[in-house]
Amino acid sequence: MFRIAVLASGRGSNLHVLIEASRNSELSAQIVGVFSDKPGCGAVALARAAGIATVALLPRNFPSRVAYDEALFSEIAAVQPDLIVCAGYMRILSENVVRRFQDRMINLHPSLLPKHPGLDTHSRVLAAGESEHGASVHRVIPALDAGPVLAQAHVPVLAGDTPESLAKRVQAREHPLLLRCVQALAAGQTFASPMRLNDTDQLEPAA
Ligand code: GRF
Repeated sequence: MFRIAVLASGRGSNLHVLIEASRNSELSAQIVGVFSDKPGCGAVALARAAGIATVALLPRNFPSRVAYDEALFSEIAAVQPDLIVCAGYMRILSENVVRRFQDRMINLHPSLLPKHPGLDTHSRVLAAGESEHGASVHRVIPALDAGPVLAQAHVPVLAGDTPESLAKRVQAREHPLLLRCVQALAAGQTFASPMRLNDTDQLEPAA
């Protein structure tokens, strides 16, 4: 069985989608561990409730980012993941762990990369007056939010949108986007060129 490790810092709605899909066999994979920098976050609670092993380490207990990442990723390596999914993991990863695992690590980011890497993407899209926004799943490389895009989901920016209303619209599309990407990777798909999530929640070539 294809083995997935998930990194998360937040409420865990994307993790929830992956857990449900693996339970009902929509996703032929096993979630073998959930890893976090926030022991009290929703994602960790969800994983525990689902009987999934969790490791949550507090950054303040480590002398440096490198030491923290070495500790967390040695726990991740121990579950022997085929794929590491960063689903709302809010810490920047140090270069050494990225280099070690980048052949099998993806991240979900709430913007149409390469636009708006980093934080506060919804406010930045509104401030820039853009008419379109979305989410990207990309491979992780040492540079932040800069690895090759596997697939994107697009949403319109509507008159009167606030960062909150826009975030809600993007998050509704992140869930099928992430699930389709993880399903495809578990099935051995290589994503030779970027894909786009269409209106029926299928991936199709972006161009
Ligand atoms: C998502 O919007 C993701 O794009 C961002 O953090 C959020 C995580 O949501 N990086 P959740 O914890 O999966 O609900």
